[in-house]
Amino acid sequence: MSTVYLNGDFVPKAEAFVSVDDRGFLLSDGVYEVVAFYEGVPFYLERHLTRLRRSLAAVRIDYDTSELPDVFRRLIAANDLEGADRSLAYLQVTRGVAPRTHYFPEQPVLPTVYAFAKAWSRPNEAVWSRGFTAITVPDQRWHRVDIKVIGLLPNALAFQAARDAGVDDCILVRDGIAIEGAHQNFWGVLGGRAVTHPETNLILSGITRGAVLELARSHGIPCEERPILLEELADAEELFFTGTTGEVRPCVQVDGVPVGDGRVGPVTRSLSDAFLALVEEVKEAASAVR
Ligand code: PDD
Repeated sequence: MSTVYLNGDFVPKAEAFVSVDDRGFLLSDGVYEVVAFYEGVPFYLERHLTRLRRSLAAVRIDYDTSELPDVFRRLIAANDLEGADRSLAYLQVTRGVAPRTHYFPEQPVLPTVYAFAKAWSRPNEAVWSRGFTAITVPDQRWHRVDIKVIGLLPNALAFQAARDAGVDDCILVRDGIAIEGAHQNFWGVLGGRAVTHPETNLILSGITRGAVLELARSHGIPCEERPILLEELADAEELFFTGTTGEVRPCVQVDGVPVGDGRVGPVTRSLSDAFLALVEEVKEAASAVR
């Protein structure tokens, strides 16, 4: 039985309950974060906390995040994940419990803070090297997807459409632009450049995206932040996704059409290798200070 964190307590998951009046349940009124851990070491935790504080401020939920590094550390330990190759902590903060209204609670309420941890795994090398397939799906999300809100119904509908189509991923398309995946950022290698959508209100500013952009720049891979037109996908040399649990994830087929020669390309592979090397560096830096 896993141990979860709820409002200050670490409890067995079966004993963790939230009120039916929670605004997260009634209105999706909350925000979340997902942080990867590699052998118990968080990857870019400060960046995740900065993004969380930004999300909280954007939706006007008052919650002090300073306890979170300790909460995550204790959750990973309580669930025996310190030695796990890969694990994650999921955290959500909702506006709290109050009678259902479309405005904020009139009396101040404490936010509901819930977190769990679990292991995850990277696809094995043979599967990764074959690459992954995707379909394009209309982006039906709201216009503030830069805020990491818990209301993910359009993302879930899009990802389910991909599953129903028998493919691995989806690419959300808005106004003729391939925006991002249902839970990952999207990249193309176009004319020799690694291209990804700029940080606007139309994408989530992924921590992995940021790390991969920095890696591309430091490895001399030309890159560009600009929208990728849907019509450009047909001529793309390579396509890939980035995200906390996808890391760098090659996309070799879109809507049944192979990308380039249909194989994982050299830029995707270099960036994936660079990302895995960065993970090792982060782990080593943490063990050096222990
Ligand atoms: N998803 N775009 C969207 C819409 C996302 O939901 C995510 C993350 C990303 C990638 O961001 P990052 O690199 O910081 O993980 C991009 C999380 C992991 C999730 O919903 O589980």
